[in-house]
Amino acid sequence: MPLSAQDRINIEKIVEILRDCHRVFFITGAGISADSGLPTYRGIGGLYNTKETDEGIPIEIAISGEMMAQNPSIPWKYLLHIEQSCRSATFNRAHEIISFMQNEFENVWVLTQNVDGFHRKAGSKHVIDIHGDLSEIYCMLCGFSKEIDDYSSLEDIPPRCEKCDSLMRPNVVLFGEQLPSGKCEMLMNEWQEGFDIVFSVGTTSIFPYIAQPVLYAKHSGIPTVEINPGETNVTNIVDFKISGKAAETLDALWDTYQNIS
Ligand code: OAD
Ligand code: ZN
Repeated sequence: MPLSAQDRINIEKIVEILRDCHRVFFITGAGISADSGLPTYRGIGGLYNTKETDEGIPIEIAISGEMMAQNPSIPWKYLLHIEQSCRSATFNRAHEIISFMQNEFENVWVLTQNVDGFHRKAGSKHVIDIHGDLSEIYCMLCGFSKEIDDYSSLEDIPPRCEKCDSLMRPNVVLFGEQLPSGKCEMLMNEWQEGFDIVFSVGTTSIFPYIAQPVLYAKHSGIPTVEINPGETNVTNIVDFKISGKAAETLDALWDTYQNIS
């Protein structure tokens, strides 16, 4: 669907603001990778839409930290499914434009919930992948870790550690697990430096640490933008709501920015 007249007006206003920006903050979720053909977690075609898994348990239990400790073959089965959809896809125009912005602004930071690694592959340097990245697996006993391009190259699922023969797991945050403290610290440090504009792209913002930067920005008078065809927890908070899809919207925004600058 083409962008609406209102979306285009908003894009022009945002571009005006961007001309004076130095530090730009993006928050992204599954919706940005939906334009690469990946399923989202919730909403149409969402992975979590079916109430129960084949094992007769809710998906939140199947992919939990506790299940990984008790019966790792269950979370591995679903993580393998998510990994397969990532491997058959790649980053899209939205990830690409966020990466191009690094040449235009002093700093561009990305806080993503996605575990597909697409922001880094597209060239973004300052990425806080708060839920981890599927392409890294580590040993649950000795901590040995390695990069895996494609899970189909693994001989066993769950794979075994080449150092101590214990089971390995993906370096992602599972249900019921804590966020990685180092990444939270990095996020806090960057926020202390301040940002000039905050974008929320393709996320329902169900987690407080995803919605809060938008709320904080709003209360501090920092312009806020949401790019999402659906309604979310931050829709009523942001200064600019754009209902276009991530790739088409960022493409139009970048085009406008380059024509005006
Ligand atoms: P969700 O699946 O909850 O939400 C996806 C959002 O993307 C929705 O708000 C859609 O309206 C929007 N959307 C869909 N297509 C889009 C497009 N082409 N362009 C822009 N937006 C689009 O995904 P997240 O908010 O990322 O956590 O989910 C958050 C977390 O829930 C995930 O990281 C995962 C899950 O539990 C863990 O695994 C720990
Ligand atoms: Zn080991």
